[in-house]
Amino acid sequence: MSETNVRSPAGLPATDWREEIAPDETERFTHYAEQLRALQRDRAKKSSKGAADRALHAKGQAGVEGEFTVLPELPEYARVGLFAEPKTYRAYVRFSNGAGARQHDAKDDVRGIAIKLVGVDGKKIIPGMEDAKTQDFLAILSAFTPFVGPHEFVTVVRAAANPALLLPRLIKGLGFGPSFKLLKKLAGGFPKIASVATATYYSALPIQFGPYAVHYALRAQSKAEPVSGKKAADHFGAELADHLRKGPVVYDFRVQFFRDEKTTPIEDASVEWRESDAPFLTIARLTIPQQDPSSAKGVKLASFIEGLSFDPWHAQVELKPLGAMMRARNFAYRLSTEERKAAKEPDGTEEL
Ligand code: HEM
Repeated sequence: MSETNVRSPAGLPATDWREEIAPDETERFTHYAEQLRALQRDRAKKSSKGAADRALHAKGQAGVEGEFTVLPELPEYARVGLFAEPKTYRAYVRFSNGAGARQHDAKDDVRGIAIKLVGVDGKKIIPGMEDAKTQDFLAILSAFTPFVGPHEFVTVVRAAANPALLLPRLIKGLGFGPSFKLLKKLAGGFPKIASVATATYYSALPIQFGPYAVHYALRAQSKAEPVSGKKAADHFGAELADHLRKGPVVYDFRVQFFRDEKTTPIEDASVEWRESDAPFLTIARLTIPQQDPSSAKGVKLASFIEGLSFDPWHAQVELKPLGAMMRARNFAYRLSTEERKAAKEPDGTEEL
């Protein structure tokens, strides 16, 4: 597996990436965010808890503490934002299932990891939160999505909320041909993993990286095992806890640089940035140190993390999310966290 970077003729990653921002996006993306919030409210009304969960990724598999270490001796072009200097940040890490409903872990689903670094200096993007001390990274098990953009994404999420009406709702939202094309892509199901401690997670969408643009990924250093057997309802969390009681779990944080609009597009989320076109460069390491998630401290920590807001827009200005799917997230996460009254951003001084 190559660790070198694709260079432009000048020896540096390409900088000619572009976003295409449609004039009606604010209106449309506000509407998508409201549609997701309506599902969230609906579920809250029906739940015994009576309070809202996350609109998506409602079930936390685990909430643990970690350390994020920026590696020394990075190439000059990779020393961007918080990656400019070798340094170790404290991190909160939440593993999740993607659905808006809390379900058995055996159910086919997206799986996510959300990482919040604390104590991060530099200007942040969200107006009013410029001085926040956090940087978030969110990733899933797929390197790309079945969706070109947020319209398809939100249409599928809404249609899937009622499986009996999935097809008519899809056809209504997307049209006949595109619906069947999408269903074909979705028929393959979701990636299966034996353990979150041996998985690879992908941003699946781009972020700015100073003058460049990248996708990022977290690759577990431990080798993946075959998926086997019948498992308990919360087996992902239980299995991670077993790992962590014995020792640390470590992931390499890697980036792939934008090369050109055809092989590494910014706006089309359905195209995989292939390693052969855009090789990975390891720039940091996420270590989840040995800890006991079932101890009193571990349970308190998980509950604190469950209340946090992980959001790709909690980011340094140098690491701004890019592309329509990311821009739609700029509206959706804000409404979802407001609805469930998420905690305010931590700054690294909290005592747990
Ligand atoms: C394709 C790339 C995406 C990835 C990698 C991703 C990943 C994640 C992850 C890991 C979480 C859980 C965060 C946590 O643990 O608190 C999450 C939550 C969420 N996602 Fe995404 N997501 C993606 C796309 C989208 C899109 C396109 C939308 C909507 C337009 C969206 C809406 C949401 C919402 C509303 C939440 C709950 C936010 C909260 O209440 O904290 N996501 N996502």
